[in-house]
Amino acid sequence: MSGLFSGLSPIQPDALLQLMVMARADDRPQKIDAGVGVYKTSDGKTPVMSAVRKAEQRLHDAQDSKSYLGMRGDAGYAEEIGKLLFGKAWGDDRLVGLQTPGGCGALALGFALVKAARPGAKVWVGTPTWPNHEPLIKGAGLTIETYPYYDKASTSIQFDEMVAALERAEEGDVVLLHGCCHNPTGADLDAGQWAKVRSIVAARGLIPFVDIAYQGLGDGLEEDAAGARSVVEAVDEAIVAQSCDKNFGMYRDRVGTLFVKGRDADATKLALDWIMQLARELWSMPPDHGAAVVRMVLEDEALREEWRAELDSMRDRINSLREKIAACDPRLEYIGRQKGMFSMLPVSPAQVVRLREEFAIYVAGSGRFNICGMGDDQVAYFCNSVKAVIDG
Ligand code: LMR
Repeated sequence: MSGLFSGLSPIQPDALLQLMVMARADDRPQKIDAGVGVYKTSDGKTPVMSAVRKAEQRLHDAQDSKSYLGMRGDAGYAEEIGKLLFGKAWGDDRLVGLQTPGGCGALALGFALVKAARPGAKVWVGTPTWPNHEPLIKGAGLTIETYPYYDKASTSIQFDEMVAALERAEEGDVVLLHGCCHNPTGADLDAGQWAKVRSIVAARGLIPFVDIAYQGLGDGLEEDAAGARSVVEAVDEAIVAQSCDKNFGMYRDRVGTLFVKGRDADATKLALDWIMQLARELWSMPPDHGAAVVRMVLEDEALREEWRAELDSMRDRINSLREKIAACDPRLEYIGRQKGMFSMLPVSPAQVVRLREEFAIYVAGSGRFNICGMGDDQVAYFCNSVKAVIDG
């Protein structure tokens, strides 16, 4: 008999995380690490947000136990995120939230719930999407169907094709939607397109599953939640996976939330029982630190304002970089119309390699790049390098 592990098939390393390692090891001074999605200041730092640091200090001083909190984690945390995400709709007894280890934990738990509730459900996923969506869905044992979302060549959303695909989805199928700041393209649905998607999912009895990991980094906290809110309000059943990694800068603390909306309070309660049980089987109880800190920031008026102001300045930096990059060349103009941390460069995989090897510019294989991966004084170098590889 062969060894237990030697029989495993080889694994392709995760491309994004591998890029992060490669960029760290590159000491060329002109380096631009625009791979993984972390916010960076103009001097390349990813600081702890000031309100977060203050809340951490208070937590450190006040916490007198690290005993278990229970399967729901910090209940006050989910309340605060619920208000932030759903606004006035929060408080509806058909809507419930549970703390998860990061957005990935929320996605994994949400898909596990779908699998438990409707094992044969198909999950419709836009192309392209965040590369980890597919393994998460398949890992839950669900089947994937795709709908066209974005055409890299024309830099536009393929909305007619998306609608046509969703009109083929069957009642009870799940539709994965990006709440805002689409990852990897930066191309968000506009209000009219959200309205159309909302009417299709409602009319066809589809279950929207919204992934929202960048609230506040596109147009603003309220604006970025509008699409998700409108879709969730329009249907009887919905799932939302949320992350605080980016908008609280709490990447390594893994702070996320899963929200579920059921047909009535009883159905929602049953779904909550299930996600608590599934969470128990997956991670037992979520880590506390990050969620407690986020709750403390959101509950305290002064800290909340401080956090909002810092988030606004992060968004302003991203949007001002977008404008500068868009102004470099007519072929990059579309970047000024897109939202959030990412856009896709009009480059082939071979050109991505050239950017990295010749110019020390790290972007994902798809051409996705982190807008704030560069300093203000590196924009011209970035644009000239991109133009050089596009022009051959
Ligand atoms: C990204 O897309 O770069 C981030 O969400 C980090 C990750 O986990 O992939």
